[in-house]
Amino acid sequence: MTKSIQIALDGPAAAGKSTIAKIVAEKLGYIYIDTGAMYRAITLKALESGIDLGDSEEAGNLLRDTAIDLQPSPNGQLVFLDGRNITEDIRSRNVTKSVSEMASHESVRTQMVKLQQQLASGRGVVMDGRDIGTDVLPNAELKVFMSASVEERARRRYEENILRGINTPLADLQKEIAARDKMDSERAVSPLRQAEDAFYLDTTELSIEEAAQEILKLAEERLN
Ligand code: C5P
Repeated sequence: MTKSIQIALDGPAAAGKSTIAKIVAEKLGYIYIDTGAMYRAITLKALESGIDLGDSEEAGNLLRDTAIDLQPSPNGQLVFLDGRNITEDIRSRNVTKSVSEMASHESVRTQMVKLQQQLASGRGVVMDGRDIGTDVLPNAELKVFMSASVEERARRRYEENILRGINTPLADLQKEIAARDKMDSERAVSPLRQAEDAFYLDTTELSIEEAAQEILKLAEERLN
């Protein structure tokens, strides 16, 4: 059987991780797991059910009663919450603004990490998030920490939004991205940080294709 490896892709908000992870997974024939989508899914449920997002116990209990499912499709990964397709809903501004608070609770992270480890177990996988190289897949054969300047990340998100018919001012996006980075980096439980053995990839000056090629090159080295 051909050898497969686990690839952990971490970094701050809107660094292009999911776009690049998808390309790399497709090229290698691996599955792709977007862990941010899982935190977004439970945040959507929390907002809909009106629980206090700051209450760790309530948040953990809500997740215990929740089924989150990721399914590949020709148009990208589909996300299901208790059987409902919420792929589009989790990209709303409301969810984006609240997700870091929900993701800060240990009661939520412990369950998510377990689920993510089960999904990745024994297969070739590209997983993107904030704590993949440090907590979820500490033994991943390849770890990449991807970033770009906050201005560039806001610009990319702005262009993506325009294509989706959303017109949030660039300055607002930049503020929101910086606020999310701050919360994700400063939380007590598994904050966003580069794993010691991760390769740092600055994508500010790179195209999507170039960044994907860079990671594929590193993956090939691990595979040989
Ligand atoms: O990757 P994305 O930007 O969709 O992630 C949304 C949020 O989910 C992040 O800002 C972070 O608060 C949380 N997250 C996390 N750990 C991960 C993936 C995402 O805390 N592994």
